[in-house]
Amino acid sequence: MPLVCLTDFEAHAREQLSKSTWDFIEGGADDCLTRDDNIAAFKKIRLRPRYLKDVSKVDMRTTIQGEEISTPICIAPMGFHCLAWPDGEMSTARGYTEEDPDNLIKHFRTPLPSNLSCVLCFAAAQAAGICYITSTYASCSLEDIVATAPGGLRWFQLYVHPNRQLNKQLIQKVESLGFKALVITVDAPKIGNRRHNITNQVNLMKNLLLKDLGSPEKGNLMPYLQMSPIDSSICWDDLSWFQSITRLPIILKGILTKEDAELAVKHNVHGIIVSNHGGRQLDEVPASIDALTEVVAAVKGKIEVYLDGGVRTGNDVLKALALGAKCVFLGRPILWGLAYKGEHGVEEVLNILKNEFHTSMTLT
Ligand code: FNR
Repeated sequence: MPLVCLTDFEAHAREQLSKSTWDFIEGGADDCLTRDDNIAAFKKIRLRPRYLKDVSKVDMRTTIQGEEISTPICIAPMGFHCLAWPDGEMSTARGYTEEDPDNLIKHFRTPLPSNLSCVLCFAAAQAAGICYITSTYASCSLEDIVATAPGGLRWFQLYVHPNRQLNKQLIQKVESLGFKALVITVDAPKIGNRRHNITNQVNLMKNLLLKDLGSPEKGNLMPYLQMSPIDSSICWDDLSWFQSITRLPIILKGILTKEDAELAVKHNVHGIIVSNHGGRQLDEVPASIDALTEVVAAVKGKIEVYLDGGVRTGNDVLKALALGAKCVFLGRPILWGLAYKGEHGVEEVLNILKNEFHTSMTLT
């Protein structure tokens, strides 16, 4: 049976992936109320179509931070893609010690294990003419990404490291490699309480053995996953330091309130991604689509606003755009596509959503 909508890919991934991998990807924080609300809130919004307009030509192109994309559907940053599409040959487990600065910077920008899967996503994004935000915890090197899709629009997502010098080196590297924006995730000064990871004994802050995430036949493909520490002391006033070391536009990911949206404008950032991290951080915050309206109103058109969280259909994309988002970013559906058929699975997910969005635009 062909997979015809994004939830088909979800069902397929659920069957294919081990329980702990599925839980890691799908899980939210605490009771998962916000994760589920991200989807449900979209479904409460109804469309008001207007007819007798010429819709014989539908143009889905737009720009983000001045760069054209073919459609307003891009890829959100996600760490550890390798879980969805392991690549044994590329997987390596390397040592890491706090004391060794060389090792630390290597680790910080290239977490363990090295893996092709985020490169595949990037190739799919380039083919689709959209933007791919590379995570600090991407499971391949930045050089691999650039080599695979040199012409693709790429932004870099930063989890701020407590060592300022490491942030500076990383940002300068990202800039020299042609990444076009720096996305600072603000909603994760500490990792949310993800019960499934505790049950499955997955501890991302420690060097933990993820035994059951590998394929039993091929042995342990990716024995270690690890997160570098996140600086929980970062405040609004620290943004000027980032602005002083880079020419890249800075975008804040994880803003949910008008108060923070106003502060973002005041601190001269270039964009906001309205996001609750897919419900993986603080539970019981508003669904992204519900928070969008107040953020859009607060920025008064001064900076671009984007959204992620719960986007699963073309109608969802249309609703986000109608409420003021310049584009949306997809999280989990990309990993479902990856789990289905690697790069081609990601392409299929993007094509389906793009076609649905085309239909939504035409019919409204
Ligand atoms: C994420 N997300 C995330 N965000 C971020 O800023 N840096 C990261 O490294 C990650 N890693 C990550 C891994 C996995 C497995 C998931 C599912 C999510 C959050 C992500 O960027 C995005 O905010 C949400 O996934 C969007 O919600 P949907 O589309 O998954 O509902």
